[in-house]
Amino acid sequence: MLKNSHPEAPSQNNKNNTQGSLHGTWASRWTFILAATGSAVGLGNIWKFPYIAGENGGGAFVLVYIACIAIVALPIMVAEVTLGRMGRQSPINTIRNLIKESGASKSFGVIGWMGVSAGLMILSYYSVIAGWALNYIEYMISGVFQDVTAEQAGTIFDDLMKDKNELIFWQSLFMLMTVVVVMCGIHKGLGLASQILMPLLFLLLIGLLVFGYQQGDLTGAFNFLFGFNFGSLTWQSVLVALGHAFFTLSIGMGAMMVYGAYMPSNTGVFSNVLMVGVLDTLVALIAGLVIFSIVFANPSIESSAGPGLMFVSLPVAFGNMLGGLFFGTIFFVLVSLAAWSSSISLIEPAVAHLVESKGFSRITASLLLGMVTWVVGLGSVFSFNIWTEVKIAGFNFFELIDFITANIMLPLTGIFVAIFIGWFVKEKMVQEELSGDNQGLSCVWRWTVRYISPLAVAAVLIMGIYPRMT
Ligand code: PFF
Repeated sequence: MLKNSHPEAPSQNNKNNTQGSLHGTWASRWTFILAATGSAVGLGNIWKFPYIAGENGGGAFVLVYIACIAIVALPIMVAEVTLGRMGRQSPINTIRNLIKESGASKSFGVIGWMGVSAGLMILSYYSVIAGWALNYIEYMISGVFQDVTAEQAGTIFDDLMKDKNELIFWQSLFMLMTVVVVMCGIHKGLGLASQILMPLLFLLLIGLLVFGYQQGDLTGAFNFLFGFNFGSLTWQSVLVALGHAFFTLSIGMGAMMVYGAYMPSNTGVFSNVLMVGVLDTLVALIAGLVIFSIVFANPSIESSAGPGLMFVSLPVAFGNMLGGLFFGTIFFVLVSLAAWSSSISLIEPAVAHLVESKGFSRITASLLLGMVTWVVGLGSVFSFNIWTEVKIAGFNFFELIDFITANIMLPLTGIFVAIFIGWFVKEKMVQEELSGDNQGLSCVWRWTVRYISPLAVAAVLIMGIYPRMT
């Protein structure tokens, strides 16, 4: 571990926590696994993965996605967690200190700044979509979707998008939920929330899978997701899969770095990161099975319905099935919980930075950043109503923030992280940090982050921006 430069940091003089962070350390490796899984499992798994799998033809896409997770995303996640644990501070200060220790160029400081800013920018729109999910819990409970047709469900969704006050109400509620957890700190906030939310989430998911089995077409869903039809796979799908592998594992945003900073020292990095990757993939696949088993049981609904799959098609299906409204309620509770445990990790790197560097209390930092993010989020709310016509480079505000973060900032941070740890941080320091891990694996990982990861991510970055430029 690096020497901590921060005056309050628990360096040599804190006997109880010599290997910890100023903000605290997870109670055990399991708290890290649950918190990091909480960050990883979110709207990306339940909302986005099923619809992009649907749009890209199913099976073969799933295989490519799993390969991207294993070959590119997991090695970068190991890199982020390792850097975080070496520095034990917010991503900005961790990277700054590691640059000093290794004599690397100051430009690598961009990793910390870009990661922290991307996290806040993503949270600004993430909270808006999570707000829709909260609203849908109410819709399901009050029976709005009972026996509706696809047109009626579309109208309900469109009406919600037009109602900016309603959208702001749910966005604000979600932001408040996020800020309250982060205000309570590592143990009583983030750690506790993950320990409660994650098992609950798995339980709900299994309940929904049983519902899908009894009421839906689980075999159809299984064949769709695991029937490897390579004919429908395009180069573009490969890029979508790689981009999503980043988003779903919360990498490129400082989240895994800051969660790594709170990881106990007496545990290996590889096994924990692998566990998070496996759990995240499992949730995405089970969510896919649940959603498609329900969709396929209703022949009028298209599997390639796109982003509306969860907010239009699925409610129609729930509204027309026995016990559908009850399980529909559970489904949207599941989505909201998953989004909640992710959103806390989007704001934590910035909160940690204000506490470390500006002397803010955790409460003030969380409230302040929550307010700023909320205001920026209003831009996304307005993109669906009063600002639909306001376009910058062809994007509305919501699309612009999504494009800049997902297609530019995330992959860029990922490339810099891989290059920084692979080529510039002293190999001895990295080896020391990974001394509790399997050394053979460590060598393979090092080779991957030096050569494969930066090239693969650069390909995503270029192919993601290029079509927009031509
Ligand atoms: N991984 C989350 C999801 O799949 O929904 C999104 C996310 C959370 C991205 C936290 C980045 C992050 F820092």
